[in-house]
Amino acid sequence: MQIIDGKKVSAQVKEQVANETKELIKKGIIPGLAVILVGDDPASRVYVNNKKKACELVGFHSVEYALPASTTQEELLALVEELNNRADINGILCQLPLPKGLDDNAVIEAISPLKDVDAFHKQNVGRIMIGDYDFLPCTPAGIMEMLHAYDISVDGKKCVVIGRSNIVGKPMAMLLLHENGTVTICHSHTTNLSEITSEADILVAAIGKAKFVTADMVKDGAVVIDVGMNRDEKGKLCGDVDFENVKDKCSFITPVPGGVGPMTIAILMKNTLKAAKMQNNVL
Ligand code: GUN
Repeated sequence: MQIIDGKKVSAQVKEQVANETKELIKKGIIPGLAVILVGDDPASRVYVNNKKKACELVGFHSVEYALPASTTQEELLALVEELNNRADINGILCQLPLPKGLDDNAVIEAISPLKDVDAFHKQNVGRIMIGDYDFLPCTPAGIMEMLHAYDISVDGKKCVVIGRSNIVGKPMAMLLLHENGTVTICHSHTTNLSEITSEADILVAAIGKAKFVTADMVKDGAVVIDVGMNRDEKGKLCGDVDFENVKDKCSFITPVPGGVGPMTIAILMKNTLKAAKMQNNVL
């Protein structure tokens, strides 16, 4: 069993981004990311802080907009519009989910597809479906990058994704399909879940339930990717996979923390760099 070190792979990706950023800065272009956080969800606050830290590390300029939960839809959309029109901002990210009363989708659609470094806009989602895209969604792309870093081939493999969110499950399935995996998406209405997951050569857990994937659900020698970020009964950070009991059955497994999370941020940096290059016609 080998533990996939997301911290290490993400550091390599960020180093590459930092090197390319240095070259861009020589041309007078500083990539800029705007991060919008509405409300006071503590997990979202941590994610946003980590995203800002990564910007600093790779040499981007970042601006945070921390808005109160009482922000109206109109105010939020006005901010997005202002950022769409700012030349020093190449990427716009609104941390999701938004507080009650605000519409995630309306905000996603308001962000210019050229600055949509999360790749959530329907125009970018559609382009991913076809395989002609500029940006890939950060978490699924980060997972693919980890698989590549460990020479794990998807071609011809049985891939099972648990979870069908727009942010992770659906695009994850598409990226595995692009690399010739045979992909099954499972969700809350799936019957005989463990029968399906037990056949997976590559199993991606994106459910949002602590230690949901148990050893009996995993095939011997499987590659297990854990997208979860939960607290266990003791309040300790844990994934969607029961790591301690599952790990010995795996050929590869990602830990939580230190697996998928750091990769998501590294890809965000990659996307922001690409956005800056595209908007300045440097490619
Ligand atoms: N919430 C959970 N994951 C993400 C992400 O990748 N981007 C944004 N904007 N919000 C999220």
